[in-house]
Amino acid sequence: MAHKIAAANWKMNGDLNFVKQLTQELLANQTIINSNQSLLLASPFLYLHELVEATKNYKQINIAAQNCAQYTSGAYTGEVSADMLASIGVTHVIIGHSERRALFGETDAQLAIKVLLAIQNKLKPVFCIGETLAQREANKHFNIIEDQLWHGLFQLSEADFSQCIVAYEPVWAIGTGVTATPEQAQEMHAYIRGLIAEKYNDDVAQATSILYGGSCNEKNAATLFSLPDVDGGLVGGASLKAESFAQIVAALNK
Ligand code: PGA
Repeated sequence: MAHKIAAANWKMNGDLNFVKQLTQELLANQTIINSNQSLLLASPFLYLHELVEATKNYKQINIAAQNCAQYTSGAYTGEVSADMLASIGVTHVIIGHSERRALFGETDAQLAIKVLLAIQNKLKPVFCIGETLAQREANKHFNIIEDQLWHGLFQLSEADFSQCIVAYEPVWAIGTGVTATPEQAQEMHAYIRGLIAEKYNDDVAQATSILYGGSCNEKNAATLFSLPDVDGGLVGGASLKAESFAQIVAALNK
């Protein structure tokens, strides 16, 4: 059975005081009780070290970066490598978020390199895939998702792929307040799991955590997380309020 994960993607929000306060509140409210569940906090680079320290006694809380460089080291001003992230105790990295793809022009080829570098440095990639509204309306969503998986992840060996988490985040649902319906989410998650089974095998597919992202909040999390192929969520806006996020984490038990 796949590991259940409630992941917070704080994006570029909050100053140091905000992050300290939010972390304290999250730790005080954290409700992870089951060994098959964990909580993932994806923070801006700047706060990662502090977060790793603050959560080091919580075995089921992991810290993620929101991106990493496509290079190992050298003259790349402003970049942060997978190796640097691993060296401070970060364990996961979001790769291929639709904002990185759309606003920063990250290509499939770059993302595939980032995934490899992450794995080489023992970081688990949280690989994001998702279609735009126009692509869904043109009935191309399954093709888009399949393409993104083939270009970003399916170049990996079975052992390397087993380190990855997949996040299905329909672009039209991110930050819009429009959540995928349970039917849409389940349909796509089952499709993704099927593709993984075809490419690797059924055991790998069943063990892969496939998270839903896109206007996931404390009101819809329990319904989404109870779907057979949804193994938790990648949460943006609602992860910035400790109370809301605590309820989302608790929904993993539903
Ligand atoms: P949202 O963002 O929950 O604010 O829609 C999700 C994400 O972009 O990961």
